[in-house]
Parts: sequence; structure tokens; C-alpha cells
Amino acid sequence: MKKVILDLDTGIDDALALAYALASPELELIGVTGTYGNVLVDTGVRNALAILELFDRTDVPVYAGVTHASTKDSFEVLPVSEFIHGKNGVGEAVIPDARRQVEDSSAVDFLIESVREHGDDLIIVPTGPSTTIAAAIEQDRSFAENARIIMMGGALTVPGNVSPVAEANVNQDPAASDTLFRTAKDVTMIGLDVTLQTLLTYEETKTWHDLGTVGGDFLGVATDYYIKSYETNSPHLGGCGLHDPLAVAVAVDPTLVETLDINLKVETEGELHGRVIADETRINDPVKTAHVAVTVDVERFLEEFMTRLTGLAKNTAARA
Ligand code: BDR
Ligand code: CA
Repeated sequence: MKKVILDLDTGIDDALALAYALASPELELIGVTGTYGNVLVDTGVRNALAILELFDRTDVPVYAGVTHASTKDSFEVLPVSEFIHGKNGVGEAVIPDARRQVEDSSAVDFLIESVREHGDDLIIVPTGPSTTIAAAIEQDRSFAENARIIMMGGALTVPGNVSPVAEANVNQDPAASDTLFRTAKDVTMIGLDVTLQTLLTYEETKTWHDLGTVGGDFLGVATDYYIKSYETNSPHLGGCGLHDPLAVAVAVDPTLVETLDINLKVETEGELHGRVIADETRINDPVKTAHVAVTVDVERFLEEFMTRLTGLAKNTAARA
């Protein structure tokens, strides 16, 4: 089993990523850290705790991360994020608050200690802004040397989704993603290049509604909300992007994608801010620290995704 930590801004596709991890016997989820992004940190942490309880996994600790970009004083949820993920972050699906609380220690300390303890037996999967990961790098330089990271974010060969060049997670804190790409020694980037090819429709969510379980209802209601937002914002796609779950799926099975080895940086200023691009100062460095997914086996991923999540949701309580 591979140990994983998910760094989530939960978020509908973050919730699907969490469900994918819980449904994967290949993974040992040792903790969840919560970032801002689709929602405030507090809301994301609340959602992660509630989802873990829904799927009977109260053994997984949840830690709160940094609340806003280091270049800003605060963070407010963008209207577009609320439109895509709903006010409560999970498409207005109703799930009870967890009976337990977030851990007292910080996400940054948990990440640093976990990398120290487990080294490359551990994979960190960030699916929100890079702020908390960058804070771990700033606090402990050995973190960048030793962490194995598979992150959802960025767009290298396709346009961005919040500007012509910027993807949403990187756009929230370009300086943090720049720190990540310039210093971390092993980063796999699962960006829009591949995640906009992995789409889900109402046909699949019907399977979850038909289960008649609380887990199936949660996945179905939240994902239908997400699909609906895509019908308005990106009707040409014909479904919703399974961004964050694809990153978890690659942690389970790296052969789902083919990658380009490259050294990356992020533009942090001006009109191009948020653009992920090759770092010109390391073009001729034989050591490439980033591995960007450029192709994906869509059919195999979707089959794994549906089998795993449907199995997980089937094992929850019957709908009242
Ligand atoms: C990313 O942005 C967030 O809205 C999603 O949860 C995903 O992590 C896609 O650009
Ligand atoms: Ca996310």
C-alpha cells in the first residue's frame, strides 16, 4: 500500500478525489489537509470531515492549512467558484457535520513531519492552491528534496480555465506554485491538458442515484450540480471535468498517463500571471524535476472511477 496525504479545497471534484482514495485498497490515506480555493479553509475542512464520516472513515485525521495566499491579506471565495461548487462547496448536497473536530496541529507541521517519517513511501496529492505546500517548503527545505508530489493544477499545452493562460488552482497563488515547481524535486503535474478529457455525465451519476444509499445520494446530488455548471460555462465539453480524482488515480496507477519531463516555473506578474511554462534557467539541466501529464487513458480511468466510487457508495446506509 502507498501512503498518501490529500491537500484539498473541498470542493465537488475534491470530494470525488477523496472518495477515490477511500475506495482504493492500493492507498493508505494517512491524513487530509485543507486549503482555501473553491471554499474557505473552514468550509473545506468541514466538508472533508463530513465526507469521511459519511464513508465511515473517522480514522483519517484532518488538518487545517494556510487560509490565504502569502501575497494577499485575506481570501474570499470567487463568484465563479461558488457557481461551480455551490455555497457549501458540495453542490448544496446535505450531509451532516462530523461529530469530531479538525486536529489541533497545523497542516504545514503534519506535512513536514510526514515527509520526514515516510520519505518517498509517501505521496502528497494537492488538488487546490499550492499555498500550504509552499509554506511547508519555506519552513523546512528538506521537504522540497524529499516530498513526492502529484498535484492537480496548471495548463501547459491547453488554454487556462480562469484566463487564457491560467488554471484555477495555480491562479489563486502563482507565487506558491512557482516555489513548488522551482524547488520540489519530484512533481507530477495533472493539469487541464489531461483533466479536460476525463468527463462525467448524468448517465454515470444515475448509477449513484439508483443505489438508494446515503453515499450514492451524496455523490449523485453533488456531481449533478457540478455537471450543471459545466453546461453553462463549458457546454462544448459535454460533461464535467474530473480534475482532482484523476490526480488520485495517477497516485494509484501512474500508467494512466504519459508524462513530459521538464523544468517548470510560473509567471507571477502581469497579464500572463498564473501561466505554467518551462523555466528558461533550467532548460539544459539534465535533471528534470516536473513530469507533466500530456496524455491519459480516458476509458480505463473512467471505468476505474465508476467501479471504485460506486462500490464505495453502495456500502453506505440505505436512504431514509
Ligand atoms: C481545479 O480548480 C478547482 O475548482 C477544482 O477543484 C480543481 O482542483 C480545476 O481547475
Ligand atoms: Ca480542487
